[in-house]
Amino acid sequence: MPDVFANITKVPSEMLDVIASVLETRAAMPSQQDMISSYLGEIDFPEKSRVLEVGCGTGPICRALVSIPNINQVIGIDPSEHLLSKARELSEGHKGISYQEGDGRKLDFEDSSFDAVILHTTLTHVPGPEEILSEVRRLLKPGGWLGVCDGDFDTATLRLSNSDLLQACCESFVENFVNDRYLVRKMSTLVQGAGFEVQPLKSYGLVETLAPGLTLSWIDRGADALVQKGTISSELGEALKKEGRKRAEQGGFFGYMAYASLIARAPTQ
Ligand SMILES: C[S@@+](CC[C@H](N)C(=O)[O-])C[C@H]1O[C@@H](n2cnc3c(N)ncnc32)[C@H](O)[C@@H]1O
Repeated sequence: MPDVFANITKVPSEMLDVIASVLETRAAMPSQQDMISSYLGEIDFPEKSRVLEVGCGTGPICRALVSIPNINQVIGIDPSEHLLSKARELSEGHKGISYQEGDGRKLDFEDSSFDAVILHTTLTHVPGPEEILSEVRRLLKPGGWLGVCDGDFDTATLRLSNSDLLQACCESFVENFVNDRYLVRKMSTLVQGAGFEVQPLKSYGLVETLAPGLTLSWIDRGADALVQKGTISSELGEALKKEGRKRAEQGGFFGYMAYASLIARAPTQ
């Protein structure tokens, strides 16, 4: 099954509601908030900046961006009207944000019309990341900033031992929800290849032990995909989910993934 995010306009609304809730849960995690403010803090936004987020989902990054003093206008783009309507609801009261439906590979904005563009956990999900980066390069003003942050999905783990069956759910989650699990490892080359001046990659960790949320959701989403494909029975799927909840309630749960960020600039001329 291909990455659901890459086919987001075909995803049923019940699953989009789950995705919306997972995106907001993740964005609310203190370690993710630290990561987001750390890499956004590396960007020297010019006064009255106009900033674009490509693949904004429910808009947590747009909301974070608009609270940065030098930023006047934030536009969030996403192909999913369902996620955009949640984003609009959640952004009520945040002045300066607007959302538009669009595909990051072909956007309807003028050349050199943004001071900064952010790609937060989008590039791993879209077939054709080169097309997005070339479009972003077109939209940025000379010297404009690009901030990219994504999960290094090949590091995703729930494993407590070599034979831990929960790892099969984790693998299934990566297989069904990620287009390129190795994208982070190619990120510098891809961004440089699109004509940007890149800074070194920075690494962060997401770990959950007590009260897991995001990594616990990998079990449900991974197990459901295995059952849907007929790889395991629905009874085994339920048993794996129960084991995940048991570890979460009784202690002993471990969920981890590394993230990485990259800051780059469009050449000044
Ligand atoms: C993992 S979500 C990240 C959402 C948001 N940036 C965040 O961090 O909460 C990936 C997003 O990419 C969007 N997406 C998928 N294909 C896209 C495309 N071709 N162009 C732009 N966004 C796309 C999906 O709809 C989804 O909202």
